[in-house]
Amino acid sequence: MSEARIALVTGANKGIGYEIAAGLGALGYRVGVGARDEVRRGSAVEKLRAAGVDAFGVPLDVTGDLSVTVAAELVERRAGRLDVLVNNAGISGETGPGWAQDPTTLDLAMVLRVVETNVIGVIRVTNAMLPLLRRSASPRIVNVSSAVASLTRQADPGIEVGPVMAAYAPSKSFLNAVTVQYARQLAGTGILVNAACPGLVATDFTGFQGPRTPRQGAATAIRLATLPDGGPTGSFFEDDGVIPW
Ligand SMILES: NC(=O)c1ccc[n+]([C@@H]2O[C@H](COP(=O)([O-])OP(=O)(O)OC[C@H]3O[C@@H](n4cnc5c(N)ncnc54)[C@H](OP(=O)(O)O)[C@@H]3O)[C@@H](O)[C@H]2O)c1
Repeated sequence: MSEARIALVTGANKGIGYEIAAGLGALGYRVGVGARDEVRRGSAVEKLRAAGVDAFGVPLDVTGDLSVTVAAELVERRAGRLDVLVNNAGISGETGPGWAQDPTTLDLAMVLRVVETNVIGVIRVTNAMLPLLRRSASPRIVNVSSAVASLTRQADPGIEVGPVMAAYAPSKSFLNAVTVQYARQLAGTGILVNAACPGLVATDFTGFQGPRTPRQGAATAIRLATLPDGGPTGSFFEDDGVIPW
């Protein structure tokens, strides 16, 4: 069994996920690069290795039962356990001008796709990886969420929260609610489970608009992935601290 701490990051081939993998790698973690596309996964692994990271590719589509089962088997074979799981893979769904998703005209199939990836995918991957996380001395789960999930902020007309996003924002609120249920269920096991907001980051996801770099967006997730024992669990963080639910 490997001495280095082992991390798996989903959607690690680009954007914030890639930088979470790079950041954990720079801290000495051995990093599984979860990605569904073979070519994109291969080039991310190559780039991380060139930067000195002990990275290995993990074929992983979070929407597929078989893909996730096989990914867990691969991590077990390659590393024998998992210390950190970062559920980063996510989609916004189709949007109108300015990223808007009007609830009164929503395409229901699109809502289902978003929930399938952003919520069900996280549950699927987490449950497949839990047996490996339970073998770690200090397991951590980080779910990459978004401040737009905050019902407190969305309901306050005095706070600028961006456009109405009737599929994406509720999918991340659902993810936050699921995060709390995991934290409750796993309380006392040493597994810390938290949600992270990266801020508004220039990636494919945002059409490369946004004031923050992917590396800046990765910082909170990396901090939560490396929390000391006894650290917070069942909370929702951005760089500046806790985000209200
Ligand atoms: N950018 C922002 O401003 C922002 C703000 C708040 C929260 N977030 C969250 O941060 C996370 C990362 O976003 P990003 O900005 O880095 O976006 P991105 O550049 O579009 O990257 C998204 C990643 O998720 C992967 N992915 C999507 N569906 C997948 C699936 N079914 N199975 C496996 N991987 C899948 C993508 O893989 P492919 O390359 O194969 O598509 C890609 O690697 C997301 O959860 C997003 O909701 C982003």
